[in-house]
Amino acid sequence: MLTFISSLRQAWRLCIISILLSLLPSTFAFADSGRERLSLDRGWLFHPGDISMPEIVGHSASYGNAKAGNARGAAATKYNDSDWRKVDLPHDWAVEGPFDPRANISQGYRPRGIAWYRRYLRVDESERGRYFELQFDGIATHASIWVNGNIVHRNWSGYNASNIDITPYLRYGDVSNTIAIRVDAEQMEGWWYEGAGIYRHAWLLKSDPVHIMTDGVHATPKQINDRQWQIPVAVTLDNSGKQAANVKVEVTVFSPDDKVVASKIQSVSVPVLGQAIAKLPVAINQPQRWTLDKPALYRVKTVVLQDGKTVDEVSLKTGFRSIRFDARQGFFLNDQHVKLQGVCLHQDHAGVGVAVPDAIWEYRLRRLKELGVNAIRFSHNAPAPEVLDMADRMGFLVMDENRNFNPSPDYMKQLQWMVRRDRHHPGVILWSVFNEEPVQGTEVGYEMARRMTAAVKALDDTRPVTAAMNGGFFTALNVSHAVDVLGANYQVPDYDRYHKANPDKPFTSAEDTSAFMTRGEFTTDKSRNIVASYDDDFAKWGNSHRDAWQAIDSRLYVAGGFVWTGFDYRGEPTPHEWPSVSSVFGIMDMNGFPKTAYYMHQVQWIKDRPLIHIAPHWNWQGQEGKEIRVMVMANVERIKLLLNGRELGEQKVDPYRMNTFQVAYEPGKLEALGYQEGKEVAHTSVETTGKATALQLLPDRASLAGDGRDAMPITVRALDAQGRAVPIDNSEVSFAVSGAGQSIGHGNGDPNSHEDEKGKTRKLFNGLAQLIVQSHFDSSGELLVTATAPGLTAASVRIPVQKTAGIPAVAVSYAPTLYLQNWRLSPTFATRPDPAQTLADNDMNTWSWGQAPMLEVDARGSDSKENHFHLFRSNFTLDKTLGSGKARLLFSRINGKAEVWLNGKLLGTKTSVNTGDFSVDLPAVEGPAQVTVLVEGEPGKQAGLEGNIIAEPKK
Ligand code: GAL
Repeated sequence: MLTFISSLRQAWRLCIISILLSLLPSTFAFADSGRERLSLDRGWLFHPGDISMPEIVGHSASYGNAKAGNARGAAATKYNDSDWRKVDLPHDWAVEGPFDPRANISQGYRPRGIAWYRRYLRVDESERGRYFELQFDGIATHASIWVNGNIVHRNWSGYNASNIDITPYLRYGDVSNTIAIRVDAEQMEGWWYEGAGIYRHAWLLKSDPVHIMTDGVHATPKQINDRQWQIPVAVTLDNSGKQAANVKVEVTVFSPDDKVVASKIQSVSVPVLGQAIAKLPVAINQPQRWTLDKPALYRVKTVVLQDGKTVDEVSLKTGFRSIRFDARQGFFLNDQHVKLQGVCLHQDHAGVGVAVPDAIWEYRLRRLKELGVNAIRFSHNAPAPEVLDMADRMGFLVMDENRNFNPSPDYMKQLQWMVRRDRHHPGVILWSVFNEEPVQGTEVGYEMARRMTAAVKALDDTRPVTAAMNGGFFTALNVSHAVDVLGANYQVPDYDRYHKANPDKPFTSAEDTSAFMTRGEFTTDKSRNIVASYDDDFAKWGNSHRDAWQAIDSRLYVAGGFVWTGFDYRGEPTPHEWPSVSSVFGIMDMNGFPKTAYYMHQVQWIKDRPLIHIAPHWNWQGQEGKEIRVMVMANVERIKLLLNGRELGEQKVDPYRMNTFQVAYEPGKLEALGYQEGKEVAHTSVETTGKATALQLLPDRASLAGDGRDAMPITVRALDAQGRAVPIDNSEVSFAVSGAGQSIGHGNGDPNSHEDEKGKTRKLFNGLAQLIVQSHFDSSGELLVTATAPGLTAASVRIPVQKTAGIPAVAVSYAPTLYLQNWRLSPTFATRPDPAQTLADNDMNTWSWGQAPMLEVDARGSDSKENHFHLFRSNFTLDKTLGSGKARLLFSRINGKAEVWLNGKLLGTKTSVNTGDFSVDLPAVEGPAQVTVLVEGEPGKQAGLEGNIIAEPKK
């Protein structure tokens, strides 16, 4: 028994390790190379709502406002953020708030608005001279980013990364650096829920001055002939150093089992503050192919060597596969015909909005794989990088889609960013430049698309470009003429007409279906915004699940389909409006719980094993004797239906329409049997259950990694006395989560629910709810979840949380409360000056300017022994906290004797001439404060203020 338990433990450990490994990004670095990519997800401060910039009045304020480093308000280095909420990323504030019928239906009736984030960052003195880059993988929607009061980036899309060189603005040692971000989520880029905030991961990249640029390794394999492949590797290097650098770039390609299969080395000179590209084409003989079942991934390691030492190293994963869109026969992967069994996906999940943990994405993709999906269209934007890595590893084909249709420079950069970031992924088979643009059928659309296609081709000529067109492709000049593959959204009646007129143009559905189903409901009730799950209802412009797939599957020239959508999402509750807040288009609901459509597609898409399903459930108490419509979905030859052991009929399987029976309801067991060549090969049943008596919790995985990132869904169900799940139970469940983790949200798939997604309770919806738990950072032990509901036996589960080193991360620092950064420095004086002396508001020149730690002031020349008095002056506000009489002003180092004056009053005197810390108590008064520090140094020696100067509540 003991050995069994320990081998179970071992298996869990291996499972955790493999999950952690699987969550590693496909471009990663090794710590000993000089490069470190540290997670910057933890330690943020959050302020909901905008903070307006203080008004600029007077000469000195106007002058100061125009200067570098002098951002005002919450963007400033000094700002009292002590009462801001502590949050970790990914973070979506829109999902936290209540629904509001006055808010935008498209955004799921979630008010969004504007908010601020701030974070402090310390950089060790020993790291001076290195290169530092801030990386935000996605911020919804527009963002302005400041570092130490300098605006360093403005981002115009919620779907692209912001990679920002912050090297020039940094301060080192014990001085804090401040990152401030204003996020404007009043801006919209979509007609679906887009969330609000820093909703993807954030990173701090540190590297040597000579480094590989972000997304700077171009390694996209090309097939030369049947046996020969080449990766024309091009590496873009950058040099933030003070000298030109002659370096060697070495590329090594590793097979999936980590054996070296090719390598090449090349010298290159990188100019000061400039870039250089090293080109290293490597030949690969008969590589293993990346396929949907065995997605073999090769690793391309790029090393930069300077004076024989490794200064940078980046690895990325790629794969060898050929792709071809044939105008007559559809899509070929490695010369084998593959029908695209695709889904379109938005990026939100139950409970968490768009701040979806990587592990929840892994769960979503796993659900799609089980469904038989082989292609994903990330609509209508590029996904998080981790998601594409997973798609490569799990074997999905991807249509990677650009958000904004606009070839002007700012927007073209977004498209180019996507191609640069994603071109190494073997899964990506199509670049889409847009979704449904009103100008698609015009010369304007053509000219715009032509430029964007050219921009894509300049970066990657190995994949076709498409555009998702919902019309306009019959005009004399339109977007279809500027792209390689016609992507049709809906328009099924035009498929053949288009193909006949354009027999040489490859064709795929880019989007289809748009059918409605409410999970677990089998009677349409318009008064309650509920649609039965029989595949009867669909949007005017769309088709039922069965009709759309039949149209696609029965036409060889149509490369495949992309069902709108794989999962329900917030917003677009078509055909309903308030109180409906989320869509009903999904094959699965927002939690990934299957609707009937799931089984319809599963039997159509999975061919290697017999499958059989029945809809609906068999709990129709009160409807005894009434006819119930029963749908059997199977991928075998014949099926038979039995009720309580009585045969109800046998039918030949209809793979497109499914099989339907009218069955007079009687409680008991409804069984379906599947036959192949007369042999029973599949069997399923639904049973009438008793009333719910107990709750059940079903965790998705055996354990969690204790890294603060790992998460998992837990299915919550109600069982009857015989332990059968009750599909119609709607009990309200309360959750208690304790130990090494927390709840981060929950959902139940009810598109009309207005429950708080972060609260302590959630009703089951047609028998199901989902709780999402996440481990605490640096935790181990157990996470304990208890679920209770009135009248039901409670359920609890203990999830082991494994200690893990986690991914390298930036240390968290929340201090200081108020950081006094900008100072005026008087000329030096031979005798003690009056600290109360004033400076005219328009005098920008007689006193100079300084910032910690640059406050050291030489006495005027070593022969001038007299000028050893200095005045330093700064302004701040005594707010409620700082003006409470319980706060202090702390100088981390004053070099020399000092007097500290505030608004003309002496607060304290430092009597020692030696460098040391010094603090004074702040008075109990609110309002503007001017602090003046009179420093007396030793004649001929440096004196002044060094390090942090902070105002903070007394500990
Ligand atoms: C399409 C559009 C999708 C979604 C869908 C709903 O026209 O591309 O984003 O709105 O309709 O049916």
